[in-house]
Amino acid sequence: MMQVNKVHQIEVLEGLKELPDNSIDCIVTSPPYWNLRDYNVKDQIGLEKDPEDFVNKIVEIMKECKRVIKPTGTIWLNLGDSYFKSNSNNCKSNWLQQKQRLLIPFRIAIKCQNELGLILRNDITWVKQLWNCKTKESFGSSMPTGVKDRLNTTSESLFFFVKSNKYYFNLDNIRIPYRDKKITNSQGKNPGDCIMFPLEPSREKHIAMFPKTLPEFCIKAGCPKQICKKCSTPKLIIKKSDSPYSFNIRVRDVKNGRIKSLDRKASLKETKDYNEKNYVSKKEDQIILSCNCKAGFNSGIVLDPFMGSGTTAIVAKKLGMNFIGFDLNKNYIKIANRRISQIGN
Ligand SMILES: C[S@@+](CC[C@H](N)C(=O)[O-])C[C@H]1O[C@@H](n2cnc3c(N)ncnc32)[C@H](O)[C@@H]1O
Repeated sequence: MMQVNKVHQIEVLEGLKELPDNSIDCIVTSPPYWNLRDYNVKDQIGLEKDPEDFVNKIVEIMKECKRVIKPTGTIWLNLGDSYFKSNSNNCKSNWLQQKQRLLIPFRIAIKCQNELGLILRNDITWVKQLWNCKTKESFGSSMPTGVKDRLNTTSESLFFFVKSNKYYFNLDNIRIPYRDKKITNSQGKNPGDCIMFPLEPSREKHIAMFPKTLPEFCIKAGCPKQICKKCSTPKLIIKKSDSPYSFNIRVRDVKNGRIKSLDRKASLKETKDYNEKNYVSKKEDQIILSCNCKAGFNSGIVLDPFMGSGTTAIVAKKLGMNFIGFDLNKNYIKIANRRISQIGN
């Protein structure tokens, strides 16, 4: 296993190949977008002539991401789109026409579903700027544009993928508190799939940093703070009333003693039997899901295969998680190391 809590100067696919199967809890990443920026480094992704080659390359990387995450793991992939520009007026295909919005993020997401078998749980819209058509109020900010024949692009995609249908997801960590606490004693609302992560001004010499709120959201929801040192099962504490497990619970098949899944709400007796014999324990209104190893816990590992200036790593460290990062550009790695060292242990 590669050294954790380090940003490695390595090409993304080479780095991924060094990681064992099922070893990472959460991946949060933002690859270069097609034909947008030059990161001044050999073997960089994003400057392929044909956008289809770019799509295929990112899908190849996602295949490796799927291999390295645990069955309980989560993958959060941020991608922006591009418009087709060509120096010649001969269009290569209907898709590759002048001015065409290429829908690259969605082409990648569809291939991840169809070819890799990844499960897309959310197609989150990262809103940078939002305009209320009625009040004429505008929130947030975006890159200024000189474009006059279409709307400015003020949002990007953040895809949330998993590799199995039983995965770690901590909704309580990302709920929106209700304005009036008296109305309900619930911990808050599900934040929904349209989220504003405001752009953060930075003096760092990196041209495409994402705001810290983005990896923070993904890690809080998708990376366990405690994983068993022996068997790697994440420990998850959830409110009993919010538990998806109480609706689709696994129960012991009395005849052969095996655990089987039921696609229905378990009866009180089944839930009680399950709780007594398995790894679910209850504390007041909580359900604690974990293993029975009693071997102690490590923090989850967050991987960013395009670490850039280290934003994912500094957030992971702040939240008490372990991280691994890759980037080709040694100047960015220097920036990342400096930013990471500024976060206290
Ligand atoms: C969009 S930036 C990531 C920015 C990062 N999220 C941050 O907040 O700083 C993409 C990064 O991918 C790196 N990169 C490009 N091609 C790469 C490759 N083939 N292998 C590893 N890193 C690569 C670039 O150097 C750049 O830092």
